[in-house]
Amino acid sequence: MNYKIALVKGDGIGPEIIDSAVLVLNKIGAKFGHSFSYTDVLAGGCAIDATGVPLPEESVRTCLESDSVMLGAVGGPKWDTLPGHLRPEKALLGLRSAMKLYANIRPAVLHRALVSECPLKSGIAEEGIDLIIIRELTGGIYFGESGRGVGETGPYAFDTELYSVSEIERIGRIGFEMAMKRRKKLTSIDKANVLESSRLWRETMHALRSEYPEVEYSDMLVDNAAMQLVRKPSQFDVVVTSNMFGDILSDEASMITGSIGLLPSASLGTGTLGMYEPIHGSAPDIAGKGVANPIATILSAAMMLRFSFNLAKEADCIENAVAAVLAEGARTADILGDSKAKPLGTSEMTERILQKI
Ligand code: IPM
Ligand code: MG
Repeated sequence: MNYKIALVKGDGIGPEIIDSAVLVLNKIGAKFGHSFSYTDVLAGGCAIDATGVPLPEESVRTCLESDSVMLGAVGGPKWDTLPGHLRPEKALLGLRSAMKLYANIRPAVLHRALVSECPLKSGIAEEGIDLIIIRELTGGIYFGESGRGVGETGPYAFDTELYSVSEIERIGRIGFEMAMKRRKKLTSIDKANVLESSRLWRETMHALRSEYPEVEYSDMLVDNAAMQLVRKPSQFDVVVTSNMFGDILSDEASMITGSIGLLPSASLGTGTLGMYEPIHGSAPDIAGKGVANPIATILSAAMMLRFSFNLAKEADCIENAVAAVLAEGARTADILGDSKAKPLGTSEMTERILQKI
């Protein structure tokens, strides 16, 4: 079977890490008898440079016509002073919205071999970190009404958090279903002591509970959740939350696993079309130097095989290869820690992983 993949390489280190993922996918294809065909798609800063807009219509069309999309990263200092609607980040938001990818799945796993990289007090890392943040991705304050004006006291600006019951229900269900496949524990995070939208979030989640009696469910306020993540991350299994809270908490969760360079993500809608990307950004400071860690993108390719193409064996194969090279001590500069090992560059790390497939 041939799978059509749109590649949004983007800016900064995006092209380098996507190239690594393509090498890995091709090796998987050869080993398991699948073929992958790729179409490059312009989005982000490079699209602004080439066409004047962050997300050309043709790019959206190509993504919608593909079986799946892989994205490197978008953005960089060069485009930081552009007005909001012309920033590279708009490409990401535009793709999420056009492809109706309402569920963002961000696993945060502390690899056994990297326990020493965990910045938390010793003892906490040893208890393990293996959680998944499910972030609502096409609603809330990211897409609510916003604007600026001038009032009696001077200029003002506003953004609006708005959630409908149906939006909360569909992301809530993903949370419960994911919990059923894992340790049957779900934490829903909100700010129901202050926000009306959070009170509706909580009521809606409670109404879903009866459909999943086996899941141990709890509510947690977002400020407490930020604290609990560094106090005792092992208490979390599946976490479900709104767009903005998920944005913030997923950065925190990634950091406590040692490196943002390791964590993949999947964005899904109702069908099998998804978008897969590392959770880190474009890292302009190291772009073009060949030192970026390709693991988060390679693991994102594994998530694509699992969630969009239903190729679980193949996904396991990639994940096992990554775990094996980390266990052998292969390290890129970002996960070097106190190790005296010589850091591997992007292509050396990719080569090591390819050898294990
Ligand atoms: C993320 C990023 C994006 C977001 C930015 C780049 C628009 O921080 O994917 O978490 O806020 O969603
Ligand atoms: Mg973010």
